[in-house]
Amino acid sequence: MSKGGKMPRLNSQEDLVRLREEILAKRDPKRPCVFVCNGTACIASGGLEVLKAFQEEIERQGINALVDTKGPGCSGFCERGPVVVIYPEEICYVKVRPEDVPEIVKETLIGKKVIERLLYQEPLTGEKEIHESDISFYKHQTRVLMGVKLDPRSIEDYIAIGGYSALSKALFQMTPEQVLEEVKKSNLRGRGGAGFPTGRKWETAKKAPGDIKYVIVNGDEGDPGAYMDRALLERNPHSVLEGLAIGAYAVGASEGFVYVRQEYPLALKHVLMAIEQAESYGLLGENILGTKFNFKVKVHQGAGAFVSGESSALMTAIEGKVGEPRPKYIRTSVKGIWGRPSVLNNVETWANVPLIINKGADWFRGYGTEKSSGTKIFSLVGKINNTGLVEVPMGVTLRDIIFKIGGGIRNGKRFKAVQTGGPSGGCLPEDMLDLKVDFDELTKAGSMMGSGGMIVMDEDTCMVDVARYFVDFLTEESCGKCVPCREGLRQMHKILTDITKGKASENALELLEDLAEVLTGASLCALGKSAANPFLSTLKYFREEYEAHIKGKRCPALVCKDLISYYIDPEKCQACMTCLRKCPAKAIDGGKNLIHIIDQDKCTKCGTCFEVCPSKFRAVRKISGEPVPERLPEEKRKIVRERKAQ
Ligand SMILES: Cc1cc2nc3c(=O)[nH]c(=O)nc-3n(C[C@H](O)[C@H](O)[C@H](O)COP(=O)(O)O)c2cc1C
Repeated sequence: MSKGGKMPRLNSQEDLVRLREEILAKRDPKRPCVFVCNGTACIASGGLEVLKAFQEEIERQGINALVDTKGPGCSGFCERGPVVVIYPEEICYVKVRPEDVPEIVKETLIGKKVIERLLYQEPLTGEKEIHESDISFYKHQTRVLMGVKLDPRSIEDYIAIGGYSALSKALFQMTPEQVLEEVKKSNLRGRGGAGFPTGRKWETAKKAPGDIKYVIVNGDEGDPGAYMDRALLERNPHSVLEGLAIGAYAVGASEGFVYVRQEYPLALKHVLMAIEQAESYGLLGENILGTKFNFKVKVHQGAGAFVSGESSALMTAIEGKVGEPRPKYIRTSVKGIWGRPSVLNNVETWANVPLIINKGADWFRGYGTEKSSGTKIFSLVGKINNTGLVEVPMGVTLRDIIFKIGGGIRNGKRFKAVQTGGPSGGCLPEDMLDLKVDFDELTKAGSMMGSGGMIVMDEDTCMVDVARYFVDFLTEESCGKCVPCREGLRQMHKILTDITKGKASENALELLEDLAEVLTGASLCALGKSAANPFLSTLKYFREEYEAHIKGKRCPALVCKDLISYYIDPEKCQACMTCLRKCPAKAIDGGKNLIHIIDQDKCTKCGTCFEVCPSKFRAVRKISGEPVPERLPEEKRKIVRERKAQ
């Protein structure tokens, strides 16, 4: 019906129930269906081509009357994309290429046999898993939002799983006040950063004077390494719209906005498509489901500035002005867009609302901790085996997320730190791995939940460089409107850069701490107020690294270019010419049987020699805080040639 066919307008609660029954009656749950993940990450690794290959091959083999194909949104396991799951058996294949498709159709769809080589192999045990739910990455998650299987382009798929029944329940069985009470009782806290109680925000807007009120979805999500909200909008846009409509009903709004950044074209496309479909069915627009409730949704495309995700900046952008923050003497829930009460919530916050209304506040509180209920989606990235989107109940430990779900650190390296909370979050060390992840515990530890970015770092990471990187990002993204943030960040970035170059003064840390105090206390918005976190948390847990850089002119993790040198160990060099040929700066001197030497004046420290030196030799070393050993005299360099010549 959503693919060009006319949609019947639903004029009552019964109409929706009937439509759902009709949709379900036409579907056979045992009918085979091939789900090819078509989230942005899987598309980038060929998901669209794999889906097309299935459709063509199924037709070629004449089984198209027996098998369905679907291109759902992100399944979370982006590292192994394109991911293909075959139902009803739930056979999961990873890293599937179009060339694999004829074999899958013949062997698995027709022959009911599993193809070993396409199965996921557990990094720690080496075991191969057949079913999606047995894979450790999924097994330890609670996928309330991420586990829903549907085609995001089909409103019928959403209705089939009970979609829009929460809106219907709210409109026909609950007063706006009861909806508000249920959300308050659920203890849902905003998933966009601060963890502000959603019900309280709604109540403020509801009580605020004025007939015109707005509800808004914050889909800006500009944090480096985070893509939960983009994925939710791509994979289930109707759940966000349904939540938004319920919120509008509760607070008395008849207009809403979805703010999506332009760099998220698929999310934008799916949201626009979903709005059109919902309007056609009468689930958005005038007299929703035949009631007196009117609610229209507009989409605002963000121009891609991190600061525009801040509430007042985002609302200013919707008004058509530059998306910069303004002082919030009066909350935006009282005076927001065009001075009217406006409720802004994060994508994930809105997506939880239909579940709370349908299943009840007690069900929601059954997940998570006392003060942070429900689940939370994290984007687990960095030096970890299984990167992707992970949904867990609040209160799960960092260790469980990183090791049980994430499969541990890549290449057998040691865990060093995890950065949570986006660019202004903090880095937590190994001895905090048993910290229970919720809003308050993370804040107490000097980091924060933010919107759910989680970047895992291994032993080869320099924590000073990490702080410099995030401060660099924030310096670029500061709107420059207030002096403490604009100038404070610039100075902080300069001092951190000096430290990584070994040029910082002895009192650099005191200067940075002073700056941190000013930034935190005097900045206009939370970008500046929290901008010192990357520095403060790394200083708290990794002070010795700062001191090594400042006092010893040494980078213990061997990362900071100005403090390291590459050196070829003459005892180990086999004069194989590999590094010499690959060095882009032509800084390596040597010959076929002549031990190689790096000319330190020409070396750009790009690290190519280190990477290409065969692992059986490991002759190239990185050193820091010590002088490069004297150049080997010419006659000694020839020893290898003589030895080889014998
Ligand atoms: C610099 C900055 C950027 C922000 N970016 C986002 C964002 O991309 N998405 C988001 O939901 N909240 C973002 N926030 C938080 C919002 O200001 C706001 O608190 C949030 O959207 C409220 O929704 P919630 O209560 O559901 O979390 C940002 C805040 C700051 C200071």
